[in-house]
Amino acid sequence: MSKIATLEIDGNKYEFPIIEGTEKELGIDIKTLRGVTGGVTTIDPGYKNTGSCVSGITFLDGEKGVLRYRGYSIEELAEKADFLEVAYLLIFGELPTAAELEKFDRDIKEESHVDEDMKKILDGFPKSAHPMGVLSSLTSALIAFNPGSVDVDSEEEMYNAIVKILAKFPVLAAWTMRKRKSLPLDYGDNSLGYVQNLHKMMFARPNKAYESNNLVYDALDKLLILHADHEQNCSTSTVRIVGSSHAGLFASLSAGMSALWGPLHGGANQAVIEMLEAIKEDGGDTAKYIAKAKDKNDPFRLMGFGHRVYKNFDPRAKIIKTSAEEILEDLGIEDPVLDIAKGLAKVALEDEYFIQRKLYPNVDFYSGIIYRALGIPTEMFTVMFALGRLPGWIAQWREMRLRKEPIGRPRQIYIGENIRPFVKVENR
Ligand code: ACO
Repeated sequence: MSKIATLEIDGNKYEFPIIEGTEKELGIDIKTLRGVTGGVTTIDPGYKNTGSCVSGITFLDGEKGVLRYRGYSIEELAEKADFLEVAYLLIFGELPTAAELEKFDRDIKEESHVDEDMKKILDGFPKSAHPMGVLSSLTSALIAFNPGSVDVDSEEEMYNAIVKILAKFPVLAAWTMRKRKSLPLDYGDNSLGYVQNLHKMMFARPNKAYESNNLVYDALDKLLILHADHEQNCSTSTVRIVGSSHAGLFASLSAGMSALWGPLHGGANQAVIEMLEAIKEDGGDTAKYIAKAKDKNDPFRLMGFGHRVYKNFDPRAKIIKTSAEEILEDLGIEDPVLDIAKGLAKVALEDEYFIQRKLYPNVDFYSGIIYRALGIPTEMFTVMFALGRLPGWIAQWREMRLRKEPIGRPRQIYIGENIRPFVKVENR
């Protein structure tokens, strides 16, 4: 029998259907609330209790530390799949057959050039510009070079737009890094796989043979998969809400990138390494920083700790911690920052403040240590996150458009002045 929620306001009762998801999650469907109550709305800053949509892409259970893409566990995908397969799975709903994957890869390669004039735009940025700002701008600039709008009712147009951005985005991401390092811009090598090519585009030197390294590729592949989607987070919600105005895919993605940049979201991976470095410089006293994080008069937060949804553990952090240890060992790197991270996590996980608030290391806590080991500069960490998240953003945008969702437009409760007469400037 379908469940009903009853709301009582001033003695009047209203009934609302309860929607049940495939994983037995319940949501009160308040679509009719304002209509039946004569304009009563809900207030939920930060949308802590509000579902913005129904979605068939990613399931996560924050209490149990579960994360699945299209029904497949993140642990299994991280171990067995490659990034392009996961991208296809997220966007189109099923793992690709060998033929579908081969076509997807070929179509992406076919689009993996960027208009030469894009270099002029990149040229206009100062070298010191943060790569996330540059990447978001370049993604937006791509619209000018690919001006046709996508007819979302056409499978073919949708597919072409998706393939285009999956192809061009890694080129732009690599360019943001090469620009900072004063390296010539190049277009990579279509004989390589997606992740290998990304690595080559970032690291190849004009005067040195490029060396491939499967360990590095595997580590990158895993990191990209772990970041590929996370249901209705801040950047994904941004992509969906911008897209809901029927702004194009690239414009929606560019907005998502700006949302990701913030230190409370994807920018946390850069903030974590900077924090760990600062603790190291300060003598490595983890207890001091735990005390700072707990002090309500101190704005310091333990970056890489806490999550809006995970209240037990972040399954991505678990996988990444093991990966970080393995990669450092395999590459023969000793990074004192990893010891500081492990020390901080140990103290925090036994501390009443963190236990009570259910604060655990999140995906960003250890990812930066791997990026560092791979030679990726700190300011590129959030770009790496964006590269991973790209298929998730695309999948969510596509789902939103195919479901013909209405434009996102939240309500408010006005708490400003009531009507008052205008006073001329000489009388104020
Ligand atoms: N260090 C110290 N205290 C913290 C931390 C932290 N990292 N995170 C939360 N708290 C405390 C808050 O001060 C608050 O305490 P109070 O109840 O005594 O006031 C309580 O825990 C709840 O915190 P909120 O900020 O209300 O939780 P919210 O769900 O709004 O925020 C967030 C989640 C933004 C991730 C937060 O935990 C945080 O700022 N973490 C650090 C930044 C970070 O790592 N972000 C990456 C998140 S993962 C991602 O986006 C990919």
